[in-house]
Amino acid sequence: MIECEGLVKIYKTDDLEVVALQGLNLTVKDGEMMAIIGNSGSGKSTLLNILGGLDRPSAGQVRVGPWDLLKVSDQDLVKYKRQTVGFIWQNNARNLLPYLSALENVEMPMMFNGKVDRAYAKQLLEWVGLKDRMHNKLTQLSGGEQQRVAIAISLSNRPQMLLADEPTGSVDSRTSDIIMDIFRKFNRELGLTIVIVTHDLSLAGKVDRVVAIRDGLTSTEFIKRNPNLDGAPPLSGVGVDDDVHEAYVVVDRVGRLQVPKEYLKQLEIGDKATMEFDGDKIVIRAPKSTEGESA
Ligand SMILES: Nc1ncnc2c1ncn2[C@@H]1O[C@H](COP(=O)(O)OP(=O)(O)O)[C@@H](O)[C@H]1O
Ligand SMILES: [Mg+2]
Repeated sequence: MIECEGLVKIYKTDDLEVVALQGLNLTVKDGEMMAIIGNSGSGKSTLLNILGGLDRPSAGQVRVGPWDLLKVSDQDLVKYKRQTVGFIWQNNARNLLPYLSALENVEMPMMFNGKVDRAYAKQLLEWVGLKDRMHNKLTQLSGGEQQRVAIAISLSNRPQMLLADEPTGSVDSRTSDIIMDIFRKFNRELGLTIVIVTHDLSLAGKVDRVVAIRDGLTSTEFIKRNPNLDGAPPLSGVGVDDDVHEAYVVVDRVGRLQVPKEYLKQLEIGDKATMEFDGDKIVIRAPKSTEGESA
C-alpha cells in the first residue's frame, strides 16, 4: 500500500533549511494497522502530511497504491486526497463544523464529492458508537465524541487508507482505548490500512507493528509476536516489552542501517567503524587506532 524510499523533505524558510525527513524508508502492507512512534520533532507529522497528499516531498520515492506522490499533478493530488485517504488530527477542529449535527458533518465531504449517502453516514456514526447522538450539534458532544465524529468523517468517502496524527493526543486513556478499538474494528471489518502517528508508547500494544522514527529516519521496528493479542500490556516507558514485541533494526534496500547513538557513544565510534563478518554474525567495532590495541 505504502512504499517510501529515500524520502526527503526539506522546509525552507527565509534563511533556514530544516531537513525534516532525511532519506526515510517505510513499507506498509495493504490491510495493515501500524504505528509510527517518535519524539516531538522527529518528522512524524511531516511524513503523514506527505502520505496524505497535504504536503509535497522534496526528493526520494513515495508511492501509495498506484499513486506516485512525487510526480502526481496538483489536479490528481486533489483526487487522491478525496478518494484514497482519510485523515484524522489530534485537534479535530480542523475538519469539524461545530454548529452542524454529527450526521451533517459526516455528510459534508460526501456533498463535496457530489453524492450524499445518508444511509452510509448513519452506518458510520453507528460504527463509532454515536447512533443515539447523530442529530446532536457538535457543540453538544464531548471531546472524545467529537473525535469519533472526526473518524466517521474521515471514512465518509470510503478511503482505502486511514492516516491519524496523534489521534488520542488530547483525550483521556479510556477514550483513547475506545478510539483504538474503533480503528481495530475498521481495520478488520473493512480491510482498511491504518497508520497511526504518536509519541505515546502505550498505543504500541494495540497495533501489529511499530516503526520508530528518529531524526527523520526510520530506525527500529517492533513486530508483535502474536498479532491476535489485543489489549496486550502496554510498553514500558523506556524500552519496548520483550514479551510482546520482537525488535528489529531497519535495513534499507541498499543495506544501510542506523546504529543507536548510545551504542556508538559507549564504543566511542565517531565517523568510522570496522565491520567484520565471522560466519554467523557481523561485528562492528571502533577503528583499531582509537581502540589502542590490535585484534
Ligand atoms: N512548515 C514547516 N516549516 C519549517 N519547519 C518545519 C515545518 N513543519 C515542520 N518543521 C520542522 O520539521 C521537523 C519535523 O517536524 P514534525 O514533522 O512536525 O515532527 P513531529 O510531528 O514528529 O513532532 C521539526 O524540526 C520541525 O520544526
Ligand atoms: Mg507532529
